[in-house]
Formats: sequence, structure tokens, C-alpha cells
Amino acid sequence: MNLSEAKIRAEQLRELLIKYGHEYYVLDNPSVPDAEYDQLLQELVMIEEQYPELVTPNSPTQRVGGEVLEGFSKVEHTVPMLSLANGFNEADLRDFDRKVRQAVGDDFSYVCELKIDGLAVSLRYENGLFVQGSTRGDGVVGEDITVNLRTIRSIPLQLTEPITMEIRGEVFMPKKSFEKLNQIREQKGEELFANPRNAAAGSLRQLDPKIAAARNLDVFLYAIGEVEGKTLTTHSESLDFLDQLGLKTNKERRVCPSIEEVLTYIAEWNEKRPTLSYEIDGIVIKVNQLAHQQKLGATVKSPRWAIAYKFPAEEVVTKLLHIELSVGRTGVVTPTAILEPVRVAGTTVQRASLHNEDLIKEKDIRIGDYVVIRKAGDIIPEVVGSLADRRTGVEEPFRMPEHCPECASELVRLDEEVALRCINPKCPAQIREGLIHFVSRNAMNIEGLGERVITQLFEADLIKDVADIFQLNREQLIKLERMGEKSVANLLNAIEASKQNSLERLLFGLGIRNVGSKAAKILAQHFETIDNLQMASEEELQNIHEIGEKMAKSVVTYFEQPEVHELILELKEYGVNLTYKGPKVQDSASIDSIFSGKTVVLTGKLETLTRNEAKEKIENHGGKVTGSVSKSTDFVIAGTDAGSKLKKAEQLGIPVMSETELIAELNK
Ligand code: IVH
Repeated sequence: MNLSEAKIRAEQLRELLIKYGHEYYVLDNPSVPDAEYDQLLQELVMIEEQYPELVTPNSPTQRVGGEVLEGFSKVEHTVPMLSLANGFNEADLRDFDRKVRQAVGDDFSYVCELKIDGLAVSLRYENGLFVQGSTRGDGVVGEDITVNLRTIRSIPLQLTEPITMEIRGEVFMPKKSFEKLNQIREQKGEELFANPRNAAAGSLRQLDPKIAAARNLDVFLYAIGEVEGKTLTTHSESLDFLDQLGLKTNKERRVCPSIEEVLTYIAEWNEKRPTLSYEIDGIVIKVNQLAHQQKLGATVKSPRWAIAYKFPAEEVVTKLLHIELSVGRTGVVTPTAILEPVRVAGTTVQRASLHNEDLIKEKDIRIGDYVVIRKAGDIIPEVVGSLADRRTGVEEPFRMPEHCPECASELVRLDEEVALRCINPKCPAQIREGLIHFVSRNAMNIEGLGERVITQLFEADLIKDVADIFQLNREQLIKLERMGEKSVANLLNAIEASKQNSLERLLFGLGIRNVGSKAAKILAQHFETIDNLQMASEEELQNIHEIGEKMAKSVVTYFEQPEVHELILELKEYGVNLTYKGPKVQDSASIDSIFSGKTVVLTGKLETLTRNEAKEKIENHGGKVTGSVSKSTDFVIAGTDAGSKLKKAEQLGIPVMSETELIAELNK
């Protein structure tokens, strides 16, 4: 076969393989036997091997990339990926229905969909080609997992139309694949995945796309984030449009004219749930009319036009063997139920928090009792209650001790708290927990330094406070259990890198009472250096809008301690950054720019700036960038090929600017 013949044949094969692949993976309705598909694929592989210049990025042979990634880069979602509010019973759903009705009247319908128990992802297609896929992350910034998503056969690399859009859906692992995977892992002596969701998540986070490719993941797409040049009026129309583009949607969706039909749908699926080949954890109910959705809007976390009905948690009975006490970072002593191991909602449970003594009394839970266990939010095991009629008389009521189980100092009950606390600042348990908190993900985020290693270091007397972490060396670390040269080197690098963190991470990590990660960010942004913050008075702190009296007091009290002054000096000495590195807060009204205090929407392709650059620049000029055009939009920046958003802006009479005009404004 010469080059031109090969070219023609390769195109033919690709077209056929894409068609058959769509039938098999998306429609679940193959028209040719598997062997025929494999044979055609093999033929294409051979042609592409002989003529590598014929390989196209969207060839069915190009799903698995060869390279192993170093890490995932971050992707900012142009339209935030919100979560859903939950409903647990009929009353919650009727309440939701009433609120919707109040806002939009009676003339609307719902779409009910299965709530797939997987991982939310966003797929970006440009001119019909799959260009980027990301995780939800915190809803604003996710991780770029394009290479792994490309391995999922039901995600088309090319759509049937050259459209530019962003689509959301759920990646999941079918029950059968999950069981097979765990069987193999068991044979290999590897740790088992707790449930299909964890297995899917673990697979998408693999840096080697070959591993993801072998995991047999699948997807259902359920929403359009953004689309250029297409006007849709209902959600069900959007889903049909996704089908038309060759994307995989879930066929069990149903349009329900009223909440009564929604309840029927839920009852039906409550029964039929076990017959599905994948896990679902509830039903999602969405208002169908997009205009109504827009009118209803969203809170910071979730849209007001949708709700997730969660199936009731599975409950099981097991025996309470004893109650263990642990001392947390803030000195609170928490009782934990130690249980006879039992499987519930996909994992084996042996421990469950009992929260505090009052709760144990209220539920009359005794050591030796048979207790009912379930998972709250399907994740955290909890004890629902005890079965008093199964007692034999040997069960013992529980009493909290008067002294700290770790340092023996007297426990106290502060103000009106239910919890008992150890208030000894030198209590080793508190110090250890504080260290674990300091290195955790939302704080200093030191990878490789988890609970296990911290405990070892603490017990070996190698770290007594957080500053000590920064003077650890190879000789000390290599002596620890399960620490090889490679992990030591990685850990030292991670510690070194963490010195460059922006101030808010350190502030949160210090564990100042009442200062969560959000407050830490506000404080860092406002004061910029730890020295400024240290000098701030209660009054100054309270002048910040989001900071209340309680927090202001704890911050001042914290920084008054001589030990804290010493700690800060040490951190400085070790080269730990103590300044804020993020975007500055500016009173938007004081910025001299036409964008100051205004809401801006970007649409179409920008030539000079990337979307993120444009967004950042507008924000630095005091503006806010949002995803969709509405009456409250002040400007629309239209790049090339701008579609429906531009049209809408024109309809609403919103000023439209070109990229050149934008840049000119930004440079003023
Ligand atoms: S719609 C803004 N539809 O459930 C609303 N979500 O608890 C976007 N999920 O983060 C979500 N199946 O990961 C929607 N049919 C479905 C879903 C679904 C599963 C997940 C999704 C979301 C979470 C919310």
C-alpha cells in the first residue's frame, strides 16, 4: 500500500471505528461483532505504524498517551461547578417544589435523573474536538485529567458537529468492573477499593494513563456548562442535543409534569436500583425550563432549580466492643465506638464517633450493646442507637473520665459546651494533632507527611512544634520505619517547597481558635504579613467585615503568647514565607477603571489573552467575571466565533467590547 492508498484506507477505517465505537460504548447497541471491530482497529494500527505521518490526534488508536505525567495542572472552571442541595424525604421535596413554584409559578416541569455515584468531570470541546477534561476540584479550580479521560471509550474525541462547548457529567466504574478489579487486587495482595466511586476516583488520579485505560471507566453526561452558537430552551432538549453530538447520556431520565410524578419516579427507582449495572445514590430533580433555572439562580454552593434526593442510608447491626477516648487538636476529648467489624455501604466499619457523653446517655448506649450503625452522608460511620431488648445484663453504662487519657490533667467543660476538654497546652496528644493539622492539605499541604509519619517523628522526639518540621534532615528521617531514600528525598523536597506557601496556609495551619481556612485567607489578604497581623488590635480586626468579636479576640490572645513570638522567629530563621502572595484586596470602588465594581462576561475565542489571564486582569481592575449573560451583566467581551452569549447581550442592550478594546481599557 502506498502513502495515498494508506491515507484513504486510514480515513475509512477511522470513520468506521468511530461509528462502531459509538454504537458499542455510547449506545450500548453494537452492530458488528467485537472481533470485527478489533480487526479493523488492528489494521489501522498497522497503517499508522507504517506511515506515522497519517496519525491524527483523534484517531481511535490515540486514546492512551505514552507519557507518564509528573502531576496534574490546575484548570479554572469558566462557569463554577456547583454541587446540589440534598433532600432526604418527601417533605424536603415538597418544600423544594413549593419554593420553585413561588418563584416561577405553576407552568413548568421537572426532569428526573439517576444520581450516578461517581466523580464529576468537565469536558471541553473546541470546534468539535475534545481538548480538555478536568475534575470538579473545589468547584472553581479542578485538575487537568485530559489524558485519563481520553482513555474512556464512551467519551468521543470528536463530536458530530464542530461546536465549542463545555459539558459536565459523572465518570463511574460499572459494578462488574469494580468487582473484577478488586479480585485482581486481592490476588496481587494489593489494597482493595472500598467502593466503585473510590475506584473511579483513584483511576482518574493516576499519572500513568495506561493504568486509567485498564480500569474500564464509563461516563454519563448530564449538563452543558457553556455552549457557543446554540440556543436551547429546556434541560431535556440539552440532553437530547448531547445525544445528537455523540455524547453519552443516561436514558432513564424522565420529564415529570409535577412533584407527584417525581415521587413516583423515586419510588420506582428505589425498587429497581439493584438491577442497574452501576451504582446510584439518589435521584436528581431539575427544573426543565432554562429560563426558569436562570430566574431561580443559585446560592454560593448550589443551584435553586435542582435538588438531589438521597436514598436512605443502609443500616446494620453490630456489637459495641468498647469505647476509646481520643484527644483532639483543641483538647476536646471524643469517645469513639470500637465495633465488631461489619460491612456497611461498601466498606468495613470498626469505629464510629460517639461525639460526646450527653449523646451516649441520650441514646442509652452501653458497652457490650448491639448497636445500629449507618453512614452519615454515606461516608462517616455513626451509631444510630442501641437495641435494648438484646441485652443480657452484662452491658456496662459508660462514664467519661475526669482526667485527660493522655496527660492526666483534669478535664473541664468550657462555658456551655457539651464537650469535655483537656486545657493543658503541653498535652502531647494536642501537640501531635496540631502537627497533623499543620501539614494537612488545606494548611501547609506537605505531601508525604501524614498522620503516621508525624506520629513517628513526634514519638522519636524529633519534632516538638511546627517549626521543628523545617529543620528535619535526611539522617533523622531515614531511620524511621518504612522510609526509603526516595521517600526521604521526596519528603524533604515537599517540606522545602512548603516554605514558599502563601501566608494563609500557615495561618490556618497554626490552629488559632476560631480561625478556619476562609478566615485565614481574609486575615492574610488584609494584613499581608504575619508581623502586621501580630500587631493588630481587636478593634482593627473587627473592622474587617467578615471578622467578628470572637475571632478577633482569639487572634489577639493567640499572638500575645510569648511562645508564639518565639515560634514566628524560628519560622523566619528557617526561611518560611510569612507573607501573603495571592491577589490583593482592593476596595473595588476605589480602583480607577471602567470595570471597577462591574460584572463582566467573556465569550468566544480570545487571541492575545487566555481566558484565565483576561479574568485575572479584569479582577485586578475591580471587576467580577461571571459565566452567563443576564440583566446584571455590565459588559460582554466578545472574541471570535462568539455565539449565544453575544446574541443575548445584544438583545439585552449590554455594551459589548472586543479583545482589543478590552486590552486598551486594561492598559489605561
Ligand atoms: S447535576 C449544578 N445530575 O452529584 C448541578 N449531578 O451532589 C450539577 N451527580 O456534583 C449537578 N448524577 O457529581 C447532576 N444526573 C446528575 C448527577 C449528578 C450524579 C453528582 C455530581 C454533583 C453531585 C451533587
